[in-house]
Amino acid sequence: MPPQGQPKLKVLIRRAAIQKRVREVAREITKDFAGERVHLIGVLKGACIFLSDLVREIDLETSIDFIAVSSYGKGKDSTGQVRVLKDLDSSIEGLNVILAEDILDTGLTLNYLLRVLQQRKPKVLRVAALLDKPSRRLKDVKADYVGFKIPNEFVVGYGLDYAERYRNLKDVCILGLPAE
Ligand code: IMP
Ligand code: MG
Repeated sequence: MPPQGQPKLKVLIRRAAIQKRVREVAREITKDFAGERVHLIGVLKGACIFLSDLVREIDLETSIDFIAVSSYGKGKDSTGQVRVLKDLDSSIEGLNVILAEDILDTGLTLNYLLRVLQQRKPKVLRVAALLDKPSRRLKDVKADYVGFKIPNEFVVGYGLDYAERYRNLKDVCILGLPAE
């Protein structure tokens, strides 16, 4: 977590690069699931903007749903205890599910979500993560579709927040203090 104080934002990935990459990921999904329907599940709240852009670039029959999970106390609690706060609206049994995440960090959230969703018998369960911080991984989980691999920096924008702020930034930015 960045310390309190006057925050400084530094652009890491520009809006145009995000748009281009999201389009490429959507194209890959369209190819991989040619002729089939895909059911996108967004992990609230961070993935809502990524999912909104991604689904509009997928040239297949689609449906969407959302799930919200509690965040664990980072730094304090590394047991990976995650809880569902808002469950899906409908069954995913037999569906081609693509879980859309904003960022794959330690992997604790995704590891939990994959276990929960796999129990519900989807036909296929894949993961699309806009960002991936591989150096932070505690659980051995991988995303099938990754927008960008990024260094170990705290980022905000394009859906990602710090204390609920900055989700509306068009670029993905590194959040830091002037002294950093
Ligand atoms: P994980 O369980 O550690 O993989 O964390 C995943 C969640 O932590 C993401 O869905 C984000 O909500 C949050 N998170 C991790 N890194 C960042 C970051 O750099 N900026 C904003 N949120 C983050
Ligand atoms: Mg999130």
